[in-house]
Amino acid sequence: MKLNIAVLAGDGIGPEVTREATTILRAVAEFGGHDFVFTPALIGGVAITGTGGPLPQATLDIALASDAVVLGAVGDNKFNALSPDKRPEAGLLQIRQALGGFANLRPSVAYSALAGNSPLRPEVTAGADILFVRELLGGLYFGAPRWWNRDENEAINTMRYTKNEIVRVARIAFELATRRKKKVTSVDKANVLEVSQLWRATVTEIAAEYPEVTLEHQLVDSMAMHLMNTPRSFDVVLTENLFGDILSDESGVITGSLGMLPSATIGGTVNLYEPVHGSAPDIAGTGKANPLGAILTAAMVLRHSAGLEADAAAIEAAVAQVLATGARTADIARGGDANQQLVSTQEMGKLVHQALAQSL
Ligand code: NAD
Ligand code: IPM
Ligand code: MN
Repeated sequence: MKLNIAVLAGDGIGPEVTREATTILRAVAEFGGHDFVFTPALIGGVAITGTGGPLPQATLDIALASDAVVLGAVGDNKFNALSPDKRPEAGLLQIRQALGGFANLRPSVAYSALAGNSPLRPEVTAGADILFVRELLGGLYFGAPRWWNRDENEAINTMRYTKNEIVRVARIAFELATRRKKKVTSVDKANVLEVSQLWRATVTEIAAEYPEVTLEHQLVDSMAMHLMNTPRSFDVVLTENLFGDILSDESGVITGSLGMLPSATIGGTVNLYEPVHGSAPDIAGTGKANPLGAILTAAMVLRHSAGLEADAAAIEAAVAQVLATGARTADIARGGDANQQLVSTQEMGKLVHQALAQSL
């Protein structure tokens, strides 16, 4: 099959991890006789430096003409003084909006080889497999009004959702739950926020269409604790944009590292694929970045944009296999573990490639 993939590597460790992810996609194409065409384009800080803005029109054109967009990460401390609409992150929000995907799927899977890496006890995390469905185009990120005029002692962001925006993401969460453990946990702040009351009422209404799925509601503050105490009790976690941003990063604790988490954004004209982590300026250029979140994101490309489920599963199995051998980037390395072997970003990518080559 033919697949046009726009590659927006971005800033910091973005290019480092994206290189490993595209190498894996190339391998799948080669073994399967597919024609994957990769087109690089600028986004984020490198786009500001190169073109004056975080999302050049050329990038948007390439992305909209592609079958899938793979994004590394954006963000560079040198732009910290800019207002939100001019920063690298603005390019990411703009492209999300332009591609139209509203359901950001963020799986958090506790790989058994990493059971000792979480500060949570192994018996707490063993077998945890959560799918966050984060609404991606609404809430505080996009609500108007929003402003801070720098000389004023007041600033505004607006949390706004329409019923339709909640309905469409809720349906995706329930559909996905029917193919999993048939449980949806909807997270809100309905004890305080009107938006959350609409959220809760709407999700409850949609749940009636899926009688085989159990729905529970949780308030976001206590949910942050339940996630750490009983991660195995969750299946699909459905929530609004900012709560999903925060809780999915928190779930990196269950898996052992934020660097392990992939994501796919579906529901729009072109799906967008990005690891959950950011540009990690603290380790950029050191070869310490964990490419597995980006590689697992590549698996999601195959699953959600190419219908290549077997290849997606093969990548995930290759990752599990490599972890089982003890290969560890610095973020998942552990003092006192004699079986582990510290590897760089590139070495980790190569090991997954080798394991995959044997299975394809
Ligand atoms: P971050 O996710 O970049 O890093 C948080 C911590 O996790 C750091 O200590 C980092 O070294 C570590 N980490 C992250 N990914 C890792 C990986 N693959 N391997 C090993 N360690 C990893 O978050 P931050 O530090 O809060 O933000 C840095 C910049 O990234 C900011 O500009 C932020 O806006 C941006 N950001 C971008 C995205 C994105 O492009 N999707 C997501 C989150 C943050
Ligand atoms: C993420 C990031 C982004 C978000 C930022 C960089 C705009 O944190 O993808 O999780 O908040 O959505
Ligand atoms: Mn985030």
